[in-house]
Amino acid sequence: MPDFKRTLVTSALPYANGHIHLGHIAGAYLPADIYVRYLRIKGAPVLYIGGSDEHGVPITLTALKEGVQPRDVVDRYHSANADAFARLGISYDIYGRTSSELHVDTTQSFFRALDAAGYIHQEDMELWYSEQLERFLPDRYVKGTCPKCGYEDANGDECENCGAQYAANELVSPRSVIPGDASSPVLRSSRHWFLDLPKFTDRLKAWLDSHPEWRANVKGIANGWVGDLRSRCITRDTDWGVPIPIDGPEAEGKRIYVWFDAPIGYVTNTRQWGMDTDRGEDAWQAWWKDESSRLLHFIGKDNVPFHAVIFPAMLMGQDGYVLADNVVGNEYLNIFNRQTGKSEKGSKSRGNMISVRWALEQFAPDVIRYYLCAIAPESKDSDFDWDDFMHRYNGELCDVVGNFVHRSLTMTVKNFDGKVPQPGAFDAEDQAMLDAIPRQVDEIAEALDGFRFRQALERFIDLGRKANVYFNTKEPWVTRKTDMERTATTLYVCTQVVKALCHTMAPFLPDGAAKLAGILGVALPDGGPDGGADGWNAAKETLAAGAALQPPKVLFPKLDPDYIAELAEAHQRGEGF
Ligand code: 2FM
Ligand code: ZN
Repeated sequence: MPDFKRTLVTSALPYANGHIHLGHIAGAYLPADIYVRYLRIKGAPVLYIGGSDEHGVPITLTALKEGVQPRDVVDRYHSANADAFARLGISYDIYGRTSSELHVDTTQSFFRALDAAGYIHQEDMELWYSEQLERFLPDRYVKGTCPKCGYEDANGDECENCGAQYAANELVSPRSVIPGDASSPVLRSSRHWFLDLPKFTDRLKAWLDSHPEWRANVKGIANGWVGDLRSRCITRDTDWGVPIPIDGPEAEGKRIYVWFDAPIGYVTNTRQWGMDTDRGEDAWQAWWKDESSRLLHFIGKDNVPFHAVIFPAMLMGQDGYVLADNVVGNEYLNIFNRQTGKSEKGSKSRGNMISVRWALEQFAPDVIRYYLCAIAPESKDSDFDWDDFMHRYNGELCDVVGNFVHRSLTMTVKNFDGKVPQPGAFDAEDQAMLDAIPRQVDEIAEALDGFRFRQALERFIDLGRKANVYFNTKEPWVTRKTDMERTATTLYVCTQVVKALCHTMAPFLPDGAAKLAGILGVALPDGGPDGGADGWNAAKETLAAGAALQPPKVLFPKLDPDYIAELAEAHQRGEGF
């Protein structure tokens, strides 16, 4: 791997047409945030870009159904989602918007550059049209029967049931979804702009082949696409989107397609960040165009083709852009239904999803972050299950880590005048515990470096398990009555483990880490785009005897089973959003 000077991390831009939910978080946001926080505490320069995806049919359909303007929809959900992310501790450097003027500029310059390089052409297409409303019905404005599997609620261009993609005119029995539109859609010709994806086939293949380390799910989907590339329509008949930078009647009433402009939003938001932070209008280029910059995309599985095929082609078609070094794609978070005993697909429309804002009314951010990382759908779908949620959090984070930290610090503060005790000679068990610290810290790092977040969290808990075994073997609550020197040595060793737990929990559980750092009087560096001190390997450094400790507080209060049962029932009733 080349030696990268800086890392640019993106999380998929969620549509600003609804509240973000736990499925989103488990897929594209929490893993990215953990990784970014890990780089920051290591002192590696990192920039984390996010924002709202504010164009496209998801927005205009919501506006139509609510009888308001698209602008009202995106304004409402942009601020609601920015707030929910911030409260959950998703630590973006910027949370931008694709309806900004700056984004028009970035998107149009992508279009012009690809057009000038010969990668864009025009074609006439047959599209569904409503004679009653005198407008075209792009994408999800039309539903009908899937030509491949017969599913009756298929979208205009793809079937949710069998995954098939097809041309609009293949859809059987089309119907308009616009409220009040009773006419039957008819086919009408419309001129559109296409991106010549087949021209990128060889380069995309070579690039994908150069990344054997990517997750199998992402590689599989990307290779499938690259094996069968077709030109892709990048404009739509709509008035909500970035204007096509072409003068002439053929561009009238049309806009750039949301899936062309959305990933460009990462570039726009990097530009915006440079200006907001007074780094200058060109600051973004070091992150996007310098070959020592590493680009990482975190996404849910449905977004793989766009991030591992189409957007890379859009970058290849211009000079100087870096390509993603990894596309970290996750499977789905399903919901375990306690009444049926079955796992079901989680979705807002089924009423079984849990929104971030609702979850944050019930739980502290670390509680949610712990469970979603513990069950992260990395290589296969996973289930949100209320019983499991309570048992994992209470039984692992509270009983193993929280309990060890609390009893170690309470005994130390009480018996040694609020200071780290002076140890005597170490016996074999002390030494084995001290030796386990750097080993375990490195193992957590190795898992994080490989984007195996579940494994990293397991290794963190494992350090707590080892520490509890040590504590129970040494019985400081017994030796305290007979041998203070022995007790001092035991609690000195325990304090060193507590310190390592503090540094290593920081990426996963930022609130717990900050509280614990305050108790221990240690600094947790939080470098940023410019990098900083290495606070990760500082986990292996000793907290000196005599250092002052603050009285401990409970870091992770336990969840009450009755309360969880109540919430599970409320969720079952369709509350939770
Ligand atoms: O699937 C979605 O929610 C899209 N709005 C993701 C866009 S990701 C990127 F391209 F902006
Ligand atoms: Zn189908």
